[in-house]
Amino acid sequence: MGYLGSCFLLFSVFITVSATVKNDSNGVGAGAGDGLVMNFYKESCPQAEDIIKEQVKLLYKRHKNTAFSWIRNIFHDCAVQSCDASLLLDSTRRHLSEKEADRSFGMRNFRYLNTIKEAVERECPNVVSCADILVLSGREGVAALGGPYIPLKTGRRDGYRSRSSSVLEEYLPDHNESISTVLEKFAAMDVDTPGLVALLGSHSVGRTHCVKLVQRLYPEVDPKLNPDHVPHMMKKCPDPIPDPKAVQYVRNDRGTPMILDNNYFRNILDNKGLLLVDHQIATDSRTRPYVKKMAKSQDYFFKEFTRALQILTENNPLTGTNGEIRKHCSFANKHHH
Ligand code: HEM
Ligand SMILES: *[C@@H]1O[C@H](CO)[C@@H](O)[C@H](O)[C@H]1NC(C)=O
Ligand SMILES: *[C@@H]1O[C@H](CO)[C@@H](O)[C@H](O)[C@H]1NC(C)=O
Repeated sequence: MGYLGSCFLLFSVFITVSATVKNDSNGVGAGAGDGLVMNFYKESCPQAEDIIKEQVKLLYKRHKNTAFSWIRNIFHDCAVQSCDASLLLDSTRRHLSEKEADRSFGMRNFRYLNTIKEAVERECPNVVSCADILVLSGREGVAALGGPYIPLKTGRRDGYRSRSSSVLEEYLPDHNESISTVLEKFAAMDVDTPGLVALLGSHSVGRTHCVKLVQRLYPEVDPKLNPDHVPHMMKKCPDPIPDPKAVQYVRNDRGTPMILDNNYFRNILDNKGLLLVDHQIATDSRTRPYVKKMAKSQDYFFKEFTRALQILTENNPLTGTNGEIRKHCSFANKHHH
């Protein structure tokens, strides 16, 4: 695309954005989904969504676990105040990044998100936000793992700052959080009880490291665990204090670890949920009815998962002239500092 072409496109984007987006001078975000639209890049980068789809497929062929990361990224970025790609920023000399904070334990594959961004930049420089790439790669990750194909709006812009560990701890529940607290945190984002239950169905894929599990195995085995599942967990996590350097983990769903399906719900009803939260949603009277319904019907699970992921990905985005379009997903553009 020539220089004039790019100017024209940027100009049209500017007009569209200023005309449709609410003004938000405090820069915190425009509220639930305000300013997001289907196919935001239709004029400015019509190939954007296809490039992301293509890249996710290529990466998935080489490293299957990238798809898990794209899904988990949505939770860890969007549930913490705003879907603004703050999760992707690197640490600076003065701030430890979100990625490196305790709550992000086990997160991986961030460098491949930059691979996707580079492919998009080659086609449309400075147009597509990292926040949209994060969310759309999550959608493609869900599809790669056999989940539903979820229509998602775009038009998010990128934040300038990584959030502190204490902010993460306020927004992201811990592995052993009470269901009441978990329900409250999701309700604050407009995700209701069946929505939360469906989103936790993401734990149908991927892994959990032993550090998050040993409390349920040592010194005594949690009597709530299915005794048939314990020997496997003990074999994978033989030490009460796991060696932090050894990568010891248990697969979340032994039956179909690479497929996003409703087997998770059958597992947790069978007391084979790994995390305490997984176990608790199967037993708490507020969540159990939905767990049972999703265990019976994959369609119902997919329908609720789709609805909840749309809500989660529209949590308080930066739109319009707020935030920026980062050139590189690991760093804010320099001129803002
Ligand atoms: C109460 C809420 C949640 C808690 C406490 C929680 C906690 C965790 C923990 C402790 C792990 C294991 C990390 C490791 O050891 O490597 C994990 C993995 C994972 N979580 Fe969650 N999670 C929650 C909700 C969600 C949601 C809403 C999603 C997606 C929308 C999600 C997606 C994932 C995925 C895909 C993995 C596997 C990652 C991998 O294998 O790389 N989680 N989660
Ligand atoms: C945004 O708000 C500022 C000051 O509050 C105002 O000057 C500007 O015209 C507003 N822009 C739009 C697009 O509403
Ligand atoms: C949850 O587990 C962490 C260790 O990962 C522990 O420090 C904390 O006290 C536990 N919280 C509850 C409520 O049991």
